[in-house]
Amino acid sequence: MEEPPVFSLLVLLLLPLLTSCVENQVYIVYFGEHSGDKTLHEIEENHHSYLLSVKESEEDARSSLLYSYKHSINGFAAVLKPEEAEKLSGRKGVVSVFKSTKYTLHTTRSWEFAGLEDPSNEYNAYDKDVLLVKAQFGRDVIVGLLDSGYWPESQSFVDTGLGPVPKRWKGICQTGNQFNTSHCNRKVIGAHYYLKGYEKAYGALDRTRDYFSPLDKDGHGTHTTSIVGGRRVHNVSALGGFAYGTASGGAPLVSLAMYKVCWPIPDRDNKIENTCLSEDMLAAIDDAIEDGVDVLSISIGAYDPTPYDQNPIAVGALHAVKNNIITVCSAGNYGPAPYSVRNTAPWIITVSASSLDRMFLAAVELGNGEKLQGETVTPYNLERKWYPLVRAGQIAHPEVPKYLLDQCLPGSLSSDKAKGKIVFCLRGNGTRVAKGAEVMRAGGVGLIVGNSEAFGEDISVDSHLLPANAVGYQNAMKILDYIDSTNNAMAYITPAKTVSHGITAPHMAGFTSVGPSPVSEAVLKPDITAPGLNILAAWSEGDSPTKMDLDHRVVKYNFLSGTSMSCPHIAGAAALLRAIHPTWSSAAIRSALMTTAAVLNNKDKPITDAFGNEANPFLFGSGHFMPKQAADPGLVYDASYEDYLLYLCSIGYNLKDLTPNFRCPTNPPAPHDLNYPSIAIPQLQGTVVTYRTVTNVGSNRSVYYSLVKAPLGVSVNIYPPILYFNESGEKKTFTITIQAENLEGAYYFAKNKYQFGWYTWRDSFGTYNVRSPIAVALA
Ligand SMILES: *[C@@H]1O[C@H](CO)[C@@H](O)[C@H](O)[C@H]1NC(C)=O
Ligand SMILES: *[C@@H]1O[C@H](CO)[C@@H](O)[C@H](O)[C@H]1NC(C)=O
Ligand SMILES: *[C@@H]1O[C@H](CO)[C@@H](O)[C@H](O)[C@H]1NC(C)=O
Ligand SMILES: *[C@@H]1O[C@H](CO)[C@@H](O)[C@H](O)[C@H]1NC(C)=O
Ligand SMILES: *[C@@H]1O[C@H](CO)[C@@H](O)[C@H](O)[C@H]1NC(C)=O
Repeated sequence: MEEPPVFSLLVLLLLPLLTSCVENQVYIVYFGEHSGDKTLHEIEENHHSYLLSVKESEEDARSSLLYSYKHSINGFAAVLKPEEAEKLSGRKGVVSVFKSTKYTLHTTRSWEFAGLEDPSNEYNAYDKDVLLVKAQFGRDVIVGLLDSGYWPESQSFVDTGLGPVPKRWKGICQTGNQFNTSHCNRKVIGAHYYLKGYEKAYGALDRTRDYFSPLDKDGHGTHTTSIVGGRRVHNVSALGGFAYGTASGGAPLVSLAMYKVCWPIPDRDNKIENTCLSEDMLAAIDDAIEDGVDVLSISIGAYDPTPYDQNPIAVGALHAVKNNIITVCSAGNYGPAPYSVRNTAPWIITVSASSLDRMFLAAVELGNGEKLQGETVTPYNLERKWYPLVRAGQIAHPEVPKYLLDQCLPGSLSSDKAKGKIVFCLRGNGTRVAKGAEVMRAGGVGLIVGNSEAFGEDISVDSHLLPANAVGYQNAMKILDYIDSTNNAMAYITPAKTVSHGITAPHMAGFTSVGPSPVSEAVLKPDITAPGLNILAAWSEGDSPTKMDLDHRVVKYNFLSGTSMSCPHIAGAAALLRAIHPTWSSAAIRSALMTTAAVLNNKDKPITDAFGNEANPFLFGSGHFMPKQAADPGLVYDASYEDYLLYLCSIGYNLKDLTPNFRCPTNPPAPHDLNYPSIAIPQLQGTVVTYRTVTNVGSNRSVYYSLVKAPLGVSVNIYPPILYFNESGEKKTFTITIQAENLEGAYYFAKNKYQFGWYTWRDSFGTYNVRSPIAVALA
């Protein structure tokens, strides 16, 4: 047979190129747990011997190593050729070998995916100081964050009046660029930075773009850290005086530790994009466990889902849970598509984002007399008069492609035609603040950012550099209709004001990632929702609020949106619960948060999505967090490290190398049998019987009755339907039988489509409602 010559020529030409691209790749070689009897030196030697077994020389092996993980996590990160990685993955003792992956911070100021948005409100989650007092405001609890560093000079991190650093703390305060040991204090007690993986991937850090130290240039880490545990700071506001009031973290007296793992991507014309490398994160988590943190808050994820044993956050969190550390992660901002939720391991608390009961209302007045409500936190206002109004497409350069006409992307507007006008730009593709910068560059005097359909009615506010407003989809369409209906469109944008009374909240943020879990559908994810839309928190003074080069403003507080912001709310709440119940497991604390979460908004109506439709557990998990109720949940669903290992067995992992003390049973339980405070049955055929065990953490003598709202198309039966407890600490097991109904209509609706319901244990005094959502799809 003849081979087409062109083809072979191409292959020959491409081959050297291709191999040089993949040759120097960082891999993580993961061994699971340590056997327990080795010194740190012996562990390093052991890692070295594995490396040496695939490398040419001693020198090769030493120089290829980036990290030896030797505290809780057993593994190493090294530069390997694919064939070396392949060889290692077959070696005895190796659990998995996986390539370094680039993760990112979960804020929406990074490039927006076409998504919906819908806000929910935080209804006075911390209104009753009783909870804070009981928890001593989180005193003696340590929360570690993986993020972009922090700004130590922020008022949110002063340590006046704080007690000593908790005795068990073993972490360090790592010095570096503009950061010395005096920058750690009794509030932020530890700070480390990790960038070996980053520098391997991108070359040496450009020190004009970030600090070679725990100091935060980005702002994101300062923001999340202050949400978890910033001190109470009175009389703060964003630029323009928005959201004036007292700033406070969820657990204002908690101790904090920063593990800086995220760095700017070089050679981009913006400083917005950042990256966090697998191997750097794993090193950080290994240290955090060793250092003695109680809670880990990780607002980081990747767009592509990965199996648990290839995912540094899942691997790290598994070791964390073995040490009874609570790991809280952001669910991602990749909504509204199903299967977009990330960080879905069942030993992680996965947090979606919803709105607060606060808005920054401003109106767009149109020449036809219409007055449309929008939101903004721009500190600049227009002089009171009418301005010509155009849509970007009308003043775009002729070469801008049609589908991008209204997007105000950099360089797309013609300066001749923009001068003195208010410009309407469509949201999406690029950042919102950059659209404002483009309108400014072209001489426009005002900006309206309108949601495209995918974003719904959800608005993320920004500190623009010019007078601006942002409107939801419906108002955006009204504005476009008006512009298109006249050749003399005029508008005015009113100054915005902060409104925090009477706002219906929470609603789900349109960007928030949605279940089911792409990794294992038998665990319902996300777990819970918390505020993540338009959150004001501390900021880095090392960069401007928009991070654009032309922005020279320096602020102490700034707005951000994203599941990055909702995650530290739950981390703060978990820290309070740890303070109140120091003996509770991480699973018990998660259970308390989940079973007490609210599914109604502050008007006692179901929480909605970004389009005003009723939201479901794939958006909010068990509901909106209610920390006060979580402190006293009545019953908890506990789970141990071994339970998670059994779960891994049930989904097909062979754990022979992971841990020396555990073997998968021949017949492991089903994945949905994990003692989780929610239930997901992805492919129901006939009947599934699952079981759960609750632990009484309420009063000694109590009686609980089961209540069920079955999902459409199935019946749900709980047995026994009543649980009697004599003592606190007592455990009771019950079964849940879920059966497909033979109803034609119901079957039609439910087939291959998830339906939702719940069951609740309610005690005889009506004090406790221990609620669990159920998601079922018929096969
Ligand atoms: C640390 O840096 C600050 C300036 O940011 C300086 O005032 C202080 O003296 C330094 N402390 C030490 C111990 O070097
Ligand atoms: C905050 O502002 C109020 C009113 O302007 C003032 O009375 C109070 O002293 C301020 N508090 C602080 C801590 O600055
Ligand atoms: C972004 O641009 C693409 C074309 O490149 C377009 O298909 C998409 O709809 C745009 N997204 C948004 C949210 O506007
Ligand atoms: C529950 O009973 C134990 C003894 O069985 C007792 O020590 C404890 O105080 C009781 N707790 C409450 C809340 O009554
Ligand atoms: C609870 O107490 C009742 C009566 O006091 C007793 O009959 C029952 O066996 C006890 N149950 C358990 C599980 O201890």
